[in-house]
Amino acid sequence: MASTPLSSIMCTPTRVAVVGAGRVGSTLAQRIAEKNLADVVLLDVIQGWPQGVALDLMEARGVERHDRQIIGTNDYADTADASIVVITAGKPRTPGMSRDDLLKINARIVVEAAKNAIAHSPNAILIIVTNPLDVMTYLAWEATGIPPQRVLGMAGILDSSRFETFIAMELGCSIADISATVLGSHGDLMVPIPRFSTVRGIPITELLDAATIERLVARTRNGGAEIVELMQTGGAFFAPASSVCSMIEAILLNQSRLMPVAAYVQGEYNLDDVFIGVPCWIHCGGVRQVLSLNLTDAELEALQVSANAVRENIQRAKEMLA
Ligand code: LAC
Repeated sequence: MASTPLSSIMCTPTRVAVVGAGRVGSTLAQRIAEKNLADVVLLDVIQGWPQGVALDLMEARGVERHDRQIIGTNDYADTADASIVVITAGKPRTPGMSRDDLLKINARIVVEAAKNAIAHSPNAILIIVTNPLDVMTYLAWEATGIPPQRVLGMAGILDSSRFETFIAMELGCSIADISATVLGSHGDLMVPIPRFSTVRGIPITELLDAATIERLVARTRNGGAEIVELMQTGGAFFAPASSVCSMIEAILLNQSRLMPVAAYVQGEYNLDDVFIGVPCWIHCGGVRQVLSLNLTDAELEALQVSANAVRENIQRAKEMLA
């Protein structure tokens, strides 16, 4: 039977570049592909590792039934024309280490990765995952010089998801009805906001006493470290990967979702020239707008303390990089 000639039209599927094929990067690649959001280029400096991870993920396609391409590489040229670049590269925490202890080691890694990736995908939206998150997001933005709306740090969704989980566990109820708000830096100075954390619209302050809420807030602040202590080698990766994936989905599907992300503030919350966790409308161009909420004096002060600590570490990192 005669077939018509093959079309010469080339299709260019949407692709996401994931720099760093450790546990967060690999799990993220799996989620993106299995949710059928985009093709994935997984890059790592270790020869063979990202290629192996990518092949393993590809070989699951017969079972998972998606047609997404997952490519593993050590060469930034292979990441070209990505719509989104995610940077997970860097050293994870070991027990007893704070996220800021990672500052020196990871600053160089993230700056180099961001520059290399954006050189090949100049129009990409950049999502930073490496810790200390807010500082790394600033350094990546500065190193690439792309508009700040296109640079986002992933932390607020993870921290909110942890708070939501602990609220659901405490109340013995479904997570489906819970929506929590956690602002500020991703670290000991994060700012969970109980009055904006609700069970189907009802603030948790109506459902739980102050001491219980404080216990859940403390566990949320310590959420990453609790997992590092348990696992001993490395830290959380399932919830971080899910959190990044929800940001990717909001961008690729142009959903205009309200998400807490580390975004560049220019006067909102009396903060300037820093990346910090604030509620943002996320759409195809990255941050469409930072939402300015009316915070209480105490909440505003906590956010400012958090931002000041980030600023100090940006300065320290810049001195180390100089
Ligand atoms: C955590 C890491 C991703 O909070 O910072 O688990």
